[in-house]
Amino acid sequence: MNAQTIMVCSGKGGTGKSTIAVLVGAHLAAQNRKVLLIELDSGLRSVDIIAGVYGKTVYDIEDVLCGRCDGDKAVVASPLYPGLSIISAPYEGGVVRTAPLTRLVSLMSPFFDFILLDTAAGMGPAFTAGAAVCAKALLVLTPDPIALRDGRIVADRLIADGHTQQDLRLVVNRLRPDSFGRRAAVYDLDECIDTVGVQLLGVVPESSALQHSVLAGEAVPENCPAAAACAAIAGRLLGRRIPLTV
Ligand SMILES: Nc1ncnc2c1ncn2[C@@H]1O[C@H](COP(=O)(O)OP(=O)(O)OP(=O)(O)O)[C@@H](O)[C@H]1O
Ligand SMILES: [Mg+2]
Repeated sequence: MNAQTIMVCSGKGGTGKSTIAVLVGAHLAAQNRKVLLIELDSGLRSVDIIAGVYGKTVYDIEDVLCGRCDGDKAVVASPLYPGLSIISAPYEGGVVRTAPLTRLVSLMSPFFDFILLDTAAGMGPAFTAGAAVCAKALLVLTPDPIALRDGRIVADRLIADGHTQQDLRLVVNRLRPDSFGRRAAVYDLDECIDTVGVQLLGVVPESSALQHSVLAGEAVPENCPAAAACAAIAGRLLGRRIPLTV
């Protein structure tokens, strides 16, 4: 194995990066791929709750990057999503640096098909380190003008730093029936794609079932439309032709 490394990023915070990283990772794992999800959002953990590893982690990414433990010691299997492994962010402190992250990714790469890097919002150290090691970047954005405009800035930075247009994909998250239209701030999906300037990989609807499952510490049920949308995104990452249904 030689893992494909994919960064999940956004400009604006709270667009659903961690949620989508877990669910896409879970569905890649459900397709018999070995998936490692590393949360790089120091001090603002959330993947541990979404993936159900809360309270099960002894070491975190900061311990690994500072050399306090080997990478495999910090890997925890998600009890909610079989085949999905997690390295959590620290509860506080720590700055993700490029060189140790690059070393970790290359050490882990032979053991996984996919390494997903869930970054913090914006273009701070986690983004810079993730951008340096990833082959692809998923921009997870909500369909609002600020998230889309900030997403364009992030996409431009990735291109300026040497990534190609082909490396970038857009996921529009939390789509509601009233997200688009003449009365909405964004007219349609085309406007999202044109604003960000990145090819669309998937659209994930707003889902109260998703929120309830996360709050209850349970796996998001497969029949939830948001989970189905993430399964389709995982399928597209695996090269399958899956039509977009919005
Ligand atoms: N499709 C969705 N439907 C409903 N709620 C969602 C959806 N996606 C994400 N959320 C909710 O939005 C909130 C933010 O999600 P999440 O923590 O994944 O965002 P984030 O981009 O990782 O945030 P941060 O920038 O702080 O890292 C959470 O409460 C999550 O449950
Ligand atoms: Mg997050």
